[in-house]
Parts: sequence; structure tokens; C-alpha cells
Amino acid sequence: MALTEVFVYFPLHHFFAVLCFVAFVYKLTVLLAKRRFTIQSTEVFPGPQRHWLFGHVFEFKQDGTDLDKFVKYGRQYPYAFPLWFGPFVCFLNIHHPDYVKTLLTTTGPKDDIAYRFITSWIGEGLLVSKGQRWFRHRRLLTPGFHYDVLKPYVNLMSESAKTMTNGNVMQRLMNPFELFEHVSLMTLDSILKCAFSYNSNCQTESGTNTYIKAVYELSYLVNLRFRTFPYHSDFIFSLSPHGFKYRKACRVAHSHTAEVIRKRKEVLKAEKETERVKTKRNLDFLDILLFARDENQQGLSDEDLRAEVDTFMFEGHDTTASGISFILYCLACHPEHQKICRNEIMEALDGKDTMEWEDLSKIPYTTMCIKESLRLYPPVPGFSRTITKPMTFFDGRSMPEGSHVGVSVYGIHRNATVWENPDVFDPLRFLPENVSKRSPHAFVPFSAGPRNCIGQNFAMNEMKVVIAMTLKRYKLIEDPAHKPKIIPRLVLRSINGIHIKIKPINP
Ligand code: HEM
Repeated sequence: MALTEVFVYFPLHHFFAVLCFVAFVYKLTVLLAKRRFTIQSTEVFPGPQRHWLFGHVFEFKQDGTDLDKFVKYGRQYPYAFPLWFGPFVCFLNIHHPDYVKTLLTTTGPKDDIAYRFITSWIGEGLLVSKGQRWFRHRRLLTPGFHYDVLKPYVNLMSESAKTMTNGNVMQRLMNPFELFEHVSLMTLDSILKCAFSYNSNCQTESGTNTYIKAVYELSYLVNLRFRTFPYHSDFIFSLSPHGFKYRKACRVAHSHTAEVIRKRKEVLKAEKETERVKTKRNLDFLDILLFARDENQQGLSDEDLRAEVDTFMFEGHDTTASGISFILYCLACHPEHQKICRNEIMEALDGKDTMEWEDLSKIPYTTMCIKESLRLYPPVPGFSRTITKPMTFFDGRSMPEGSHVGVSVYGIHRNATVWENPDVFDPLRFLPENVSKRSPHAFVPFSAGPRNCIGQNFAMNEMKVVIAMTLKRYKLIEDPAHKPKIIPRLVLRSINGIHIKIKPINP
């Protein structure tokens, strides 16, 4: 029979239908085999009952109780328990320092599910990249966080904090107001000034900042995509209304970073100051990206550059906004600790209206309060890895290569076998003599090991500056009518906002 005759009896669209069916059956068989393997390999880790199709997705209702559910399960299933997101995706959730230590001493890649969902937004920047690419970029970017680079940032952070405490925000005296939004603008202002030498006026402009709004939307959509199993497919997500919204928000975020890079390149060109910048002592982070060269004199491509700028723009403002908002909230709830911090800050600043590098080490009690707040409300409540080799934990239980392991930072920080009265705000836990009695992996807000947070000193400095500048001027008062309902959305947020009241210190 000639080929044309075959198509007469068996038209082309039937042929494609059969091909699709075969591909579907093949994919399903692979997934089912993988599911059986995962069920077998997690048998040694008992965990909560799961639905055969949805797994544990509906256990987490997004109503402010999800993270406490992790803690509850943690009490029932010590060290680790499996959590399923749909019929095929399983994470071993670990919530004990001894387990975390085993995972974080490796340079293993980030997991290939959740992090894949943010790659079209922040590109293959330092946060998501792996292997040689990650190693090369980490080495190129580490000088950007050297002590000499961070030092002049303190004055810039102080300026941004002053704009916040002078502005309309803090004029809402004695009326409860929502903090997170204002603090986000302040941390964005600060990262733009420090890392990108870019003055944005984002705190003083009226209306909602489009970049901040896009980050909020993207965080929501990434979380939704993770919870909605069919959205794990790029094809289905891209055709969905949520995929459409995601692309729109990405475009807003990218145009913001493109503008920052464009302006900087323009300045460099106009002033022909390349040589001057190269030799100037206080390079900012963008300078370091633009002039970074490895041992083969290779710099970053335009795409690499944009990925890093997108990564640092997001990581550098949303995490610290979460951290600062919850610290201010904790201090509002604990006036006795707030008072000690204020006295210490007044003494350190000695009448000055700004904070300087030397002052950062003069506020140890405030630093302990910051750490205690990071323990109770970790800005990054969890992160995960895909392990590239079988991993055996200290108690002999193992997970095979290719498994997904999630670190519940919130779970570790509230683990009652590690912390006495874990829900109580007690900054004295961070006295040096108490710290030395604990595992270094009991407190991991910035992760640990080779893939720890590159910006942790930047973040700690910024948190100290903002808390000092705020407490110097205002008394923070709890608003019992609005307790935050916390939720993990890449960073820790509150679905009903974070509300406090303020009163001037010297009216
Ligand atoms: C309170 C503020 C912050 C917290 C709690 C925090 C926390 C973390 C955590 C837990 C990780 C590990 C994530 C993972 O393994 O997936 C991380 C990584 C990272 N952070 Fe931060 N971060 C903060 C602020 C910052 C700032 C201010 C910057 C930049 C200026 C930054 C840049 C990064 C980058 C680039 C990575 C990836 C590092 C790598 O994989 O080599 N972070 N951060």
C-alpha cells in the first residue's frame, strides 16, 4: 500500500491522536513508577494521613494556621515527616537541627519544582543556580558583601529609615496602621540606594508602587502554582488565567530592573568614569556585577546580569521588609523589652539623628531582640533541596538520590525539643552563654553552610538601623484587634497585614 493510501485509511489527525495517547501513557507510567518508589523510600518516615490524589494540600488552608500545623506534625513525627503536594510530588519535611546539619553541609542544588516556578521571574541568579554556574557567580559576587562595601551603606539605610519615620506613615499617631507595605517601600528604597546607587523616591511618591505590587502578585502566584498540581505543567500554567497574570507581573518586575541597569550604564557612558569606578574604594553591588571578571577574564553576560539584579532586588528588599515588620510587631507586643532597647539606643546614639557603622555594635540587647523575632517569625520560613546523592541522617534513616527535602525553618525555630517554651518571646536565649549550649543549626534564619544567605550582614545591619531609628522616635503599641495571621509566601507575610499603633517619644 502506498503512503498516500495509508493516510486515506488513517488520516493525519488520527495519527497524532495515537501519538499523544502513547506519550500520555508513557508519562503516566513513569510518574506512577516514581510515585511507588517515593512511597517505598519514605516508609521509614511516618507522617500525617494523605489523600491519594491531593496529598496534604488541603491540610494547609491558607488561613494563618498552616505554619503551626507544621509544628503540630513536628511534635507527632520527630525529626522529619513526608508531605505530598498532589499525587506525585513529595517533600521530606525536616525540622530538627541534627537533620538540617546533614543537608546543609552539602552544596546540593535547590529543588527542581518550587524554584523552577520562580526562574522565569528572577532568572538563573544566585538563589536558584547550581553547580559550576552557582560556584562561579558566588565567587564573583562575594566581594560585593565585603565589610568595606557594607560600611558606607549604613548612612544610606539610615536616610531611608528617616524618610519612613518622618513621612506620612508615622504620622498616623495612635491610629492602628498596616506596617508591611510602608516597610517594603523603605527596604526597596534602601536596596536601590545601596546596591544600585539609584534614587527612586519610592517612599515619597503617591500611589501604589508597581514593582512592590508585582512582587506581591508573583509571590502569591508562585505559591498557588505549587499548591495546584496541574499547574506544575508549564504548558497548562501558561494557558491559564493565572499564567497570564504571572507573565504580566513578570513584565512589570523586569521593566523595573531593566530601567535600573539602563540608567547606570548611561551614567557610566556619559561620565566615561569606567576607570574611576574600577579604582574607587566603595564599589556598589551593581559596579561589582558590571566589572566582575573570573580568572579567564570572563564577565557576566547581559542575561546573567539581569538575573542577578532581579534576584538581589527581590531578595534584598522583601526578606528584610518581612523581618523588620515582624520585629516592630514583636516589640509592640513586649513593651518591657522595647523599653530596654530604647534606653540602649538612646545611649548609643547620644543625641545623634542618624546611625553610623560604629553604633551597630553598641546595641547588643536590641540585636538579641532582632534575633528572637527572626526565630519566632523567620522571614524565609522554609527552603528546599533535591539531593544528588543518597543521604543518611544521624539516626540511620536515609533518602535516595533525587528526593526532595524541605527545611522548615519555622518548625526548627519552634521545636520544643530544642527550645524551652518555644512560643515565648525571650531575647535572653541569644546571650552568648545560652547560644553556646545549642546546636549552631538550631537557629537558621539565613540558612547555613555553603549556600547560606550572601546578604545576611547587609540584612542584619539594615534591621538594626531601622529598629534603632524607629524606637528613638516612637513608642510602639500592640493593636490587639489585629493579630497577624501568618502565611508562607516565599517570604513570611500576614494575610490580614501587620498592624500596630505608635506614639511620639517627645510629643
Ligand atoms: C532578613 C533578611 C534575610 C533573610 C532572613 C534571608 C534568608 C535567606 C535564606 C534562608 C537563604 C537560603 C535560601 C535557599 O536555600 O533557598 C538565602 C539565600 C540568599 N539570600 Fe538572603 N535573606 C535575607 C536578606 C537578604 C539580602 C538583603 C540579600 C541581598 C542583598 C539576600 C540575598 C540572598 C541570595 C542571593 C541568596 C542565595 C545565596 C546562594 O544560594 O548562594 N538575602 N537568604
